Amino acid sequence: MARLKVGVLISGRGSNLKALIEACAAPGFPAEVALVISNVTGAQGLDHAAAVGIPRVVIPHRDHPSREAFEAAMDLALAAHGIELVCLAGFMRLLTRAFVTRWHDRLINIHPSLLPAFRGLDTHERALAAGVRFAGCTVHYVRAEMDDGPIIVQAAVPVLPGDNAELLAARVLEAEHRAYPLALRLIAEGRVKVRDERVEIAAPFAVPETTLNPAR
Ligand code: GRF
Repeated sequence: MARLKVGVLISGRGSNLKALIEACAAPGFPAEVALVISNVTGAQGLDHAAAVGIPRVVIPHRDHPSREAFEAAMDLALAAHGIELVCLAGFMRLLTRAFVTRWHDRLINIHPSLLPAFRGLDTHERALAAGVRFAGCTVHYVRAEMDDGPIIVQAAVPVLPGDNAELLAARVLEAEHRAYPLALRLIAEGRVKVRDERVEIAAPFAVPETTLNPAR
């Protein structure tokens, strides 16, 4: 069966991009990263694509007179590579309603919190300030509102005594690297449907046991 062609949009480090590339390299994985777009020249993540010969395009947003023009340039590149699903992975530009609508249910994002808690930036600082016992990440379809949209996969990690934002971020990031490939696989297998703005996943899938924090 043809593999789902994925375009990944990045602005920086690209560790989630790397996790997606590595997942796609596994035999039988139903998707391939066919294009990487960065809006930042020299973004570190571009190296992960270069290392395995994945096409990459730098589209600096500042070179375009408007958000619409910037997105039109991205659309051209995505179309030229036959991209069917767009994954945002640390892409630090807000997208217009028009772009999000064009890619409706074909555009996903990873966010470093258990949405709908802690939308926006500084999620780990705010999770620590709120005193939550679990933090985590969310892979979701993108809607026009920031960090909003049907949830596909979430991963929870415990908040531990002595945590600071850096330690918590590192723990969440490890979980991101598992959650994003899982979400991509489920979508590429055609098992994810959005109904009434909620995701339904076709069985079979494993469900985790309840985790307590503290454990006892
Ligand atoms: C991740 O924490 C992701 O959840 C957020 O931006 C960060 C990107 O990290 N949207 P990386 O570039 O994938 O390493």
